[in-house]
Amino acid sequence: MSFLTAMQERYTTKKYDNSKKISSEKIAELKEILRLSPSSINSQPWKFTFVSDIETKKKFAEASFFNAPKIEDCDTLVVFSRIDNINAFEKQINDNLPEGAVGYYNNFLKEKPASEIKSWFSDQTYLALGVFLSACGVMEIDATPMEGIEPEKYNNLLGDKNYTALVGVCIGYRDEDDGNMPSKNPKSRLTLEEVIKNI
Ligand SMILES: Cc1cc2nc3c(=O)[nH]c(=O)nc-3n(C[C@H](O)[C@H](O)[C@H](O)COP(=O)(O)O)c2cc1C
Repeated sequence: MSFLTAMQERYTTKKYDNSKKISSEKIAELKEILRLSPSSINSQPWKFTFVSDIETKKKFAEASFFNAPKIEDCDTLVVFSRIDNINAFEKQINDNLPEGAVGYYNNFLKEKPASEIKSWFSDQTYLALGVFLSACGVMEIDATPMEGIEPEKYNNLLGDKNYTALVGVCIGYRDEDDGNMPSKNPKSRLTLEEVIKNI
């Protein structure tokens, strides 16, 4: 499938068929795709948690407002978290990145307010979200990105104080009755003229 076709056909799934499971090979492929996501200076300030246990999924569903039924019926919930402990991040890059990359961080980011540094961590994590949603499209796996979650409750369930949840993504296979698929609800976007500028 071409990338364009995948982007035309992927959509935010609103109703899952809870009898359909994603193969363990495809889940492993998605994990590797996330690991390979690009980030500024290769900073990788993220953690991706795969939740497939039914009872645990229910607990996340209870912390997800109107998104709860999707989490209960999908195959797996993937939680995208960004690092929240700047000291831990600095240790990670000192341990793993070349001098030039650490130098970039020290010169351009380190002295900024913590909120700006953390916002930069979030930017990187959202890039991985884009990679992930695109990969799901190409792999014909249905997905639902969700900011409609309660991060503090998610963090309690995740139990890692160094990270904070940003967004959850349901993955699985659509219910045939899902009214949001493009054949029933055509994609709505701004026009090319509105979003692309040629100089
Ligand atoms: C970061 C992000 C957060 C989103 N949060 C939710 C959400 O909480 N619940 C939901 O049903 N859809 C959510 N969406 C889906 C968007 O509404 C959807 O991507 C947009 O309307 C375009 O439609 P499409 O994905 O079907 O092409 C989210 C999308 C993104 C990228």
